[in-house]
Amino acid sequence: MSTAYIFLSIFKPVTILFFCYIISSVSSVAIDTQHLDKRLNVPASYVAAPYYPTPHGGWVADWSESYRKAALLVANMTLAEKANITCGSGYDMGRCVGNSGSAPRLGLPQLCLQDSALGIRNSDHNTAFPAGITVGATWDKSLMYARGVALGAEFRGKGINVFLGPTVGPLGRKPRGGRNWEGFGADPVLQAVGGALTVQGVQEQGVIATIKHYILNEQEMYRMYSIAQPGYSSNIDDRTIHELYLWPFAEGIKAGVGSVMAAYNAVNGSACSQNSYLLNGILKDELGFQGFVMSDWLAQISGVPSALAGLDMSMPGDGLVPLLGDSYWMYELSRAVLNGSVPVDRLNDMVTRIVAAWYQMGQDKDYPPPNFSTNTQDATGPLYPGALFSPSGVVNEFVDVQDGHAAVARNISRDAITMLKNVNNTLPLSTNSSLKIFGTDAQKNSNGINSCSDQGCDKGTLGMGWGSGTARYPYLDSPMDAISSKASNVKYYNTDTFPSGLTASSGDIALVFINADSGENYITVEGNPGDRTTAGLNAWHNGDTLLKNAAATYSTVIVIVHTVGPILLEEWIDLPSVKAVLFAHLPGQEAGQSLASVLFGDVSPSGHLPYTIPHNESESPASVGLVYFELGQPQDTYTEGLYIDYRYFNAHSIKPRYAFGHGLSYTTFSFSDAIITAVTSLTSIPPARPAKGSTPTYSTAIPPASEAYWPANFNRIWRYLYSWLEKSDADAAAAVASTSSYVYPAGYSNTQKPGPPAGGAQGGNPALWDVAYTVSVTVTNTGNFSGRAVVQGYVQFPAGISYDTPVIQLRDFAKTETLAKGESEVLTLSFTRKDLSVWDTVQQNWVVPNVGGDYTIWVGEASDTLTLGCKTASLGCQSGLVSPA
Ligand code: BGC
Repeated sequence: MSTAYIFLSIFKPVTILFFCYIISSVSSVAIDTQHLDKRLNVPASYVAAPYYPTPHGGWVADWSESYRKAALLVANMTLAEKANITCGSGYDMGRCVGNSGSAPRLGLPQLCLQDSALGIRNSDHNTAFPAGITVGATWDKSLMYARGVALGAEFRGKGINVFLGPTVGPLGRKPRGGRNWEGFGADPVLQAVGGALTVQGVQEQGVIATIKHYILNEQEMYRMYSIAQPGYSSNIDDRTIHELYLWPFAEGIKAGVGSVMAAYNAVNGSACSQNSYLLNGILKDELGFQGFVMSDWLAQISGVPSALAGLDMSMPGDGLVPLLGDSYWMYELSRAVLNGSVPVDRLNDMVTRIVAAWYQMGQDKDYPPPNFSTNTQDATGPLYPGALFSPSGVVNEFVDVQDGHAAVARNISRDAITMLKNVNNTLPLSTNSSLKIFGTDAQKNSNGINSCSDQGCDKGTLGMGWGSGTARYPYLDSPMDAISSKASNVKYYNTDTFPSGLTASSGDIALVFINADSGENYITVEGNPGDRTTAGLNAWHNGDTLLKNAAATYSTVIVIVHTVGPILLEEWIDLPSVKAVLFAHLPGQEAGQSLASVLFGDVSPSGHLPYTIPHNESESPASVGLVYFELGQPQDTYTEGLYIDYRYFNAHSIKPRYAFGHGLSYTTFSFSDAIITAVTSLTSIPPARPAKGSTPTYSTAIPPASEAYWPANFNRIWRYLYSWLEKSDADAAAAVASTSSYVYPAGYSNTQKPGPPAGGAQGGNPALWDVAYTVSVTVTNTGNFSGRAVVQGYVQFPAGISYDTPVIQLRDFAKTETLAKGESEVLTLSFTRKDLSVWDTVQQNWVVPNVGGDYTIWVGEASDTLTLGCKTASLGCQSGLVSPA
């Protein structure tokens, strides 16, 4: 959470109350919030076309039983109960970061929504798992899934209904972007696989997962709409959004995700939380999303337009200025339905989607209520901290949900460690080596591992970035803890400044720890407001200087990097003393043993880069730089199109410092005996989509005003959000219903559509996942050390097609088990119809550009080490080739 959070942490509620009333009384006269969403400076060719109405949920067979049950419940709800379900009870008005309204009369509880994507935020006795970027670096599908299962079990154990993860947007278009580390890597397929397996693992435990942030929230600064300025507009073309940024969302929906969080920013000038093209059109029709769309926290900027555009749940429920007891929905939604501006049909669909998701995960059976509080570590406290006068009670029950998940976390942190350089087999080290260790990053923050709220500082070992995407550490196994327990001859210098006058003895090896941090915009760390503005892409705390000094003193320097994303290595990477470099990414609580097991050779490193490391920032297109202040709405235009990360480097024949997918091992592998098999023959466009199944039907008559009257003798909590209206208000709203002259948006219609050809099931037309080809390859450990290999499969489109396509694009990957010396394993990769298609903006469909055309499927250990190629026309594979890029 953002502005409100800072606000609250600086001022106590009592103090801000007066202040807020002043702002709101001024703003309600001066600011017309409907017009916050004006398309101010958006370049002409970028449009967010209207798409109405919201497609009803329930037409997909996998969800039909849940919708049947939901419809029975919803049919019995009053107007006030329905409005209550679609909105949070207000900022800080409950134990969780989001607390929806309930319908206790019908057995529907308040839903607890809680961060984060890497572990339970602001809680206790939970695991602080490695961040998404670390998980991506493992390239290991089974670990991605195992983390999802463990996360789901922990969230359920704390009584959380909705897990606010995984993060699959930002994708990592901007190397300086603050929250890239929450996701799995700067490639749609790596991101999609990480996201979908997390959704699967979490939801199998009965917890509703949330893929976020939909969409194009690629930088932190200027993301939010406020009374002063609209959030930035990400301006993108139809093909690029489909082929890159939507891809992970489509896979998450195909995995059955129960909710989607709409992002803060605008897309093509229209705020994501009320962009009918994104929510009604793409998400709910083309991608067949059956769950509910919630707003990001305070991202909702209107009442009726957001409902019509497809928003289903407002979070945390407050209006533009939080904590005043104002909402765009709740009592306002009741009013809007009574006066005819929000169709009853839309309200019913909003509610049914939420209730169906609850049934779909089985939460109607034995689901525990929350037993923790995100607001305090104390056992007792106010039940509604955002209220001025709140009853108190037990809020934290300290339930231990860790259940041995540390092992999953440790395996991920270990198998993510990515060795970029290792001259003369410097690594692994002997435990008898004379080790001189430098850098504050090697040891825990001496002020306490959780001393900075939401990890909003860079002190000590960097296990995660900062912001809402964090968790408190139950403990932090630091590199120094683990190294000193394994090695006998260790001297640690807990400083980022190289001690003057230090001299090396023969045989000394220097281990230098550096890091680079980033996070969410509501906290600024060392001048960086989420995005890496002042730090740029260099290591923090003068890490480059520390390294250069160490390299001038010692003849063997090993660099260990904890980082949110790419950093620039040029100042030291080629120095003769810099013998080895390990990227340990963001390991969460398990930073120590995971690293030590690689350093000392218990296991070989097997991680691979989930992004490209450039020589310098100017190698990337200028359009992926951060957008700074602009009068009006900041504009972030995706002029580079499909060409981000390695797609850009390859298109411009730029050899980066380390390519996407690069990662060395203590052993070597050969890839041989590749076999390509044709499975489904392709057609230019996919076979016709299945028709939509039936959806619940209800009366569309406006309910009686009495359904929204305040109940008699109700004990109201001041500033808590309720869906009831005073009798006179409700009656007045109902009285204008027949004469209501609400002006619906351009393009508005209330007739359900059959859905676009590209749709037909969750994720899109199911035929898009027909496997066109498989490629199997024998991987043999040809070296002297046990290890795991990653096989990466990239598609190169046939020559001469009329679409401009990146040289190669990752489409599947797999990782071997641990192979002993001489041992082999056969791995098989799959390539679907969608993998071999482009999004045709005229046909509005996925098109195989040249049926029977000769694709090359490249297989190798990194995007620049693709020594094996299979051709689809001849169904032959060849090894010993030179990478196409
Ligand atoms: C973040 C979301 C988070 C929400 C609730 C927002 O500021 O963008 O990712 O889930 O707060 O904490």
